[in-house]
Amino acid sequence: MDTVLSGIRSTGHLHLGNYFGALKNFVKIQDDYRCFFFIADLHSLTTHPHPDDFHSSVRTILAEYLAAGLDPEKSAIYIQSDVPEISELYVLLNMISYVGELERTVTFKEKVRQNPNNVNAGLLTYPVLMASDILIHRAQWVPVGKDQEQHLELARVFARRFNNMYGADIFPEPHNLVFTGGAVKVPGLDGSGKMGKSNGNGIYLYDDEKTITKKVMKAVTDSGPTEPDSPMPEVIANLFTLLGLVSDRSTVDYFTEKWNDCSIRYGDLKKQLAADICKVTLPIRERIDAIYNDESYLSEVVASGREKARASAAATLALVKQAVGFKAF
Ligand code: TYM
Repeated sequence: MDTVLSGIRSTGHLHLGNYFGALKNFVKIQDDYRCFFFIADLHSLTTHPHPDDFHSSVRTILAEYLAAGLDPEKSAIYIQSDVPEISELYVLLNMISYVGELERTVTFKEKVRQNPNNVNAGLLTYPVLMASDILIHRAQWVPVGKDQEQHLELARVFARRFNNMYGADIFPEPHNLVFTGGAVKVPGLDGSGKMGKSNGNGIYLYDDEKTITKKVMKAVTDSGPTEPDSPMPEVIANLFTLLGLVSDRSTVDYFTEKWNDCSIRYGDLKKQLAADICKVTLPIRERIDAIYNDESYLSEVVASGREKARASAAATLALVKQAVGFKAF
C-alpha cells in the first residue's frame, strides 16, 4: 500500500482553501493508503506566535481535522514536534540543500516582500523541514493545494540528491495527489489571489452562518457584463470558482447562462454561494467545539498518532544515518 502524507500549519482556523486544497482530500483517501496527517507546529514558529496561543492553535487544527472526518483509527494523526526524528532529518537535509535554490522559492520571496523585518533562517529552510516531514515516512503521495507544488518539487530534488550522494535507494520521489480537475487554488473574496490565513479574505470552517453570509455578500464584484458572452474579469471568475467547489452543476450552469446573456444579478449569485458554502461547512462546525473541549479524547488521538508516526520515522532515520556513515561505538 502506498504511503500518503500531508499537513497544515497551526495558525488560526482552517479556511476554505485548506479544506478544498487539502483536508477534504485527506478524508477521502483514508481507506486506500497508509496515511499520515500532521499539524505543522514547528513551521508555524516562523511567524513567532505568542507562547500563550501556540498550544491552542495546535488544538484548534486538531479539533477541525477530526470534525471534518479524519479518523484516528485509520490514519496516523500527530503533531510535528512530537516526532523528533523529523527535526533530526531536517538537520541532515540542510547539509545537502543550497541557499541559492531556497532563495529562489516563490513563497520565500513573497514572505521577504511582506515581512522584510523577519527574514529568519527558518523561513529560508522552510522547504527543507517540509521535505523532512514527507521523506521521514518515505511517502509517495502528498495531497496539497497548488501553492505548495514548488515545495514538493524541492522535496523531490532533495530525495534524488540524497539517494545519489549516498548511493542509497531510501527515498521515493513524492508527488501531489490530485483529483479530477488537477491541483486546487481557492481564490479569496477580495478579488486578489488565493484565500489565505493572513490575507483577511477567507471563510473559515469555524464561521457561523451569519458571518459567512456577511463575508460573501461583501465580496468584491464589478458593475456587470454589458455585452453577451464577454470575457469574465478575475473578481467574478473567482466567485464562479467558489461556486464550482460548493454548488451542484446545474447551479453553476444557471449562473453562467445568466452571465452570458447579461441578466446576472450578483446579489442572487452571492446568496446562493453563501447558502451552498454553509451546506458544506456548518455540519463540520457543529462538531468542532465538542471535540476541542474533549481533552481526554484529544490526548488519546495524539498519543496513538505519535506512536505510529515515531515507529515509521525511526525506521527511516536508521536507514538514513547508516547511509550517511553514522556508527555506534
Ligand atoms: P498551509 O498551512 O499554508 O496550507 C495547508 C494546505 O492547504 C492548502 N491551501 C490551499 N489550497 C488551495 N487554495 C488555497 N487558497 C489554499 N490555501 C492553503 C495548501 O496548499 C496546503 O495543502 N507548508 C504547508 C504545511 C506543511 C506540509 C508539510 C504540507 C508542512 N509540511 C508536508 C504537506 C507535506 C503549509 O504551509 O500549508
